Amino acid sequence: MSFYDDRILPHLVNIACSSRPTRKQREKVVPLAEGEVLEIGFGSGLNLPFYDTLKIHKIWALEPSEGMRRKAAPVVEGSGINVEFIDLPGESIPLEPNSVDTVLITYSLCTIPDPVAALDGTRRVLKPGGRLIFCEHGIAPDENVRRWQRRLNPAWSYVAGGCNMDRNIPDLLVSNGFELAVDERAYIPGLKVLSYNYWGTARAAS
Ligand SMILES: C[S@@+](CC[C@H](N)C(=O)[O-])C[C@H]1O[C@@H](n2cnc3c(N)ncnc32)[C@H](O)[C@@H]1O
Repeated sequence: MSFYDDRILPHLVNIACSSRPTRKQREKVVPLAEGEVLEIGFGSGLNLPFYDTLKIHKIWALEPSEGMRRKAAPVVEGSGINVEFIDLPGESIPLEPNSVDTVLITYSLCTIPDPVAALDGTRRVLKPGGRLIFCEHGIAPDENVRRWQRRLNPAWSYVAGGCNMDRNIPDLLVSNGFELAVDERAYIPGLKVLSYNYWGTARAAS
């Protein structure tokens, strides 16, 4: 891993993901988590303050980047929540089938190199009736914004740890075996190419 990825990127990602609009998004989705939770792409632990601690009993914090886990460690320690790190990518979830009640993914499906594999794994570990809770940025509805997303994506992805501006999040979920139960979309304040958000809940399709 390069010095940039290990030492600089975690701080940049933490700052970028701490904005007021993203905090407001976290407020909407994170408290929905219940029971045993798997968070994919745990990052620096920015979702931790938003969990309803009366509803959850454990969080598996899957995060492949050592730099991000280092950044998250003090947040985890101060949270009083039972958090266990998994130092693997979302494409290789090591948990038992049907073992978690909730999978939470926020602003990580944009970055995971093989989101299809990560979603396959998500379906595998969710208990029957368990929920995927998501909040992501992705492809914008307006063609002029999409054009800029396509133009800027290669350079952006290079500096932003593999993040993609233009993934179609609902399509990705539905074409990989999920039914959307809550499906919300809107621009949140910020650069238009990065601020079209998709959030909601989904269950494995029957
Ligand atoms: C933009 S950050 C979001 C972090 C956190 N979910 C949040 O909402 O603040 C994307 C995260 O995905 C992680 N990531 C990168 N590749 C991944 C993979 N293959 N599987 C799981 N997470 C990955 C990165 O290390 C980073 O922590």
